Amino acid sequence: MTIKRVGIVGSGIMGAGIAEVSAKAGCEVVLRSRKQESADAMVAGLERSLAKQVEKGRLEDAERNAVLGRVKAVTELGELSECDLVLESIVEDLPTKLELFAELDGACGDDAILATNTSTLSVAALAGATKRPEKVCGIHFFNPAPVMTVVEVVRADQSSDATIAAARGFAEACGKDVVDVRDQAGFIVNALLFPYLNNAVKLLASGAATRDDIDTAMKGGCNFPMGPLELLDLVGLDTSLSIIEALHAAFGDANYEPAPMLAELVAAGKLGRKSGAGFYDYAKK
Ligand code: 3HC
Repeated sequence: MTIKRVGIVGSGIMGAGIAEVSAKAGCEVVLRSRKQESADAMVAGLERSLAKQVEKGRLEDAERNAVLGRVKAVTELGELSECDLVLESIVEDLPTKLELFAELDGACGDDAILATNTSTLSVAALAGATKRPEKVCGIHFFNPAPVMTVVEVVRADQSSDATIAAARGFAEACGKDVVDVRDQAGFIVNALLFPYLNNAVKLLASGAATRDDIDTAMKGGCNFPMGPLELLDLVGLDTSLSIIEALHAAFGDANYEPAPMLAELVAAGKLGRKSGAGFYDYAKK
């Protein structure tokens, strides 16, 4: 099965990035957000991102217009009925995702694949909320989706070979290297990355080093593009906290116990770049 029309549900950073790579890959993209303003804001963000690429001479004007012409912003789930693949990227909360999967099952055509961009939640549980469990899998993009080169394709026990092959084909058409992983919390990247990020917060809270020195050390000492505290701000502290909590719940390892400072920042509304402040301050535009 070749994916020609993709539905994206969720208007956060990941939804917007996945919409961009899908439209650039030649897919028709239907962006669904509960509010028309959020759906329109995603299209406006896509316009800005493509305009930057035109300015840099990396994209022709005509191609930019063609990409934008393939994207439609909607509010009704029913508008996803013609999609070959629907990829959800909503809040990391199992009950909310279960409800959405049950609704998508009713709204989408019988052959459509329903995929999740979850980082840690059970793909099998989401498959169980539908009458098409063999057509459910994980397609996990990384932030920022237009830049990061890998996608994890997650196979739940119920996922069919045809579903996995179609998901792989879609991610490859988006220009990504695909890695396969079974359905377990954190998959590959987050299972390895988030204990490190969590420990960076614990190190900061212990007073052993400053924020700037922790980030400088990991950039210069390991050649990472960003320090751990900058990266937490990019991913979002609320998202990061739920990932660490899910890893802790799944593996019970004391090392995965969330850093109290992370929970305190989230409780104070400091969510990282998206809220204007996290470990660093970001001037609001
Ligand atoms: N959208 C599109 N393009 C973007 C972008 C975005 N949001 N952010 C950066 N870029 C592009 C820039 O246009 C630039 O392209 P060019 O070199 O072709 O002109 C290139 O990326 C580099 O950007 P900058 O020069 O502005 O900045 P940096 O060189 O500092 O790179 C970065 C920024 C790509 C974010 C880099 O710091 C990086 O790779 N950081 C690590 C990110 C990471 O680890 N992500 C994974 C997080 S975990 C995750 O996503 C899992 C999830 O489940 C939580």
